[in-house]
Amino acid sequence: MSPTGQTRLAAVIGDPVRHSLSPTLMNAAFGATGLDWSYVALEVAAMQLPDALAGVRALGISGLSVTMPHKESAAACCDRLSPTAERLGAVNCIVNNGGVLTGHNTDGDGFIRSLRHGFAFEPANKRCVVIGAGGAARSIVLALADAGASEIVVVNRTLGRAERTAALAGDRGEVVALDGAHSDLVDADLIVNATSIGMGEPAASDVPFDASVLHDGQTLVDIVYKPLETPLLATARLRGVSVANGVAMLAHQAAVQFELWTGVDAPIDVMLASVADQLG
Ligand SMILES: NC(=O)c1ccc[n+]([C@@H]2O[C@H](COP(=O)([O-])OP(=O)(O)OC[C@H]3O[C@@H](n4cnc5c(N)ncnc54)[C@H](OP(=O)(O)O)[C@@H]3O)[C@@H](O)[C@H]2O)c1
Repeated sequence: MSPTGQTRLAAVIGDPVRHSLSPTLMNAAFGATGLDWSYVALEVAAMQLPDALAGVRALGISGLSVTMPHKESAAACCDRLSPTAERLGAVNCIVNNGGVLTGHNTDGDGFIRSLRHGFAFEPANKRCVVIGAGGAARSIVLALADAGASEIVVVNRTLGRAERTAALAGDRGEVVALDGAHSDLVDADLIVNATSIGMGEPAASDVPFDASVLHDGQTLVDIVYKPLETPLLATARLRGVSVANGVAMLAHQAAVQFELWTGVDAPIDVMLASVADQLG
């Protein structure tokens, strides 16, 4: 649909942002639902974020996706935060309601939706190990806790960061060093790689842990999506583990954003296909 005088605008802000998959993904979703919306990528330098958000209010841009390096500073600039964004101190989605900007964080919901949709995996009462303690890991740990996981073990290179991340899960969160995590990995129902290890053009040795401890009956999600199959996923798949890369989480977190802006159910199959197409 070509833009008209009625077209509502949404955008992703970040720096860099020109590589973003979101414009093609979101415009495919608007097209499939017949909504008169359009979505663009806007490069915003870190120091210009407050001006950019003032511009969002002034121009009446209806929805924003927020990516690096703005996720934490955007949380400080919003007028309101969802409970999840407040607990994480980070925002990846903003809804502009008449100039009032509400910050949300959809990564955790997107992750849980991807588990349910892709594997019919229900986190309640499950033992989970999350490798990593950055922004994505924090969203996932909080979402697993909110979804009722019985135990969430956080393993990360930097221990202090692991402790702050595990604290999001309250008394169900625990920090374990990688060299002491063998039995947690063997006993886990769900293992998540939320580090950037395996991204880009990885060597076979670029794995966050030795996947030969994994076994049939377990589920492993590596949230990296470039490449589509990391060395960790390849080994786990050969061992009979149910595996997924980060494509589904990416599409589902975008679907949650779409729904927050428009109030319309997201066309998730179209969104999954768009991400898969773009990543070849
Ligand atoms: N599929 C999706 O929808 C989705 C969404 C968000 C992010 N992601 C992907 O998730 C990954 C993490 O993103 P993020 O935003 O959480 O990044 P981040 O905040 O920078 O965190 C990076 C994490 O990776 C760990 N790490 C990085 N290099 C490492 C190494 N050489 N050895 C051990 N640990 C290492 C860091 O450990 P330290 O704390 O010790 O530094 C930290 O836990 C990225 O690949 C990103 O593309 C995917």
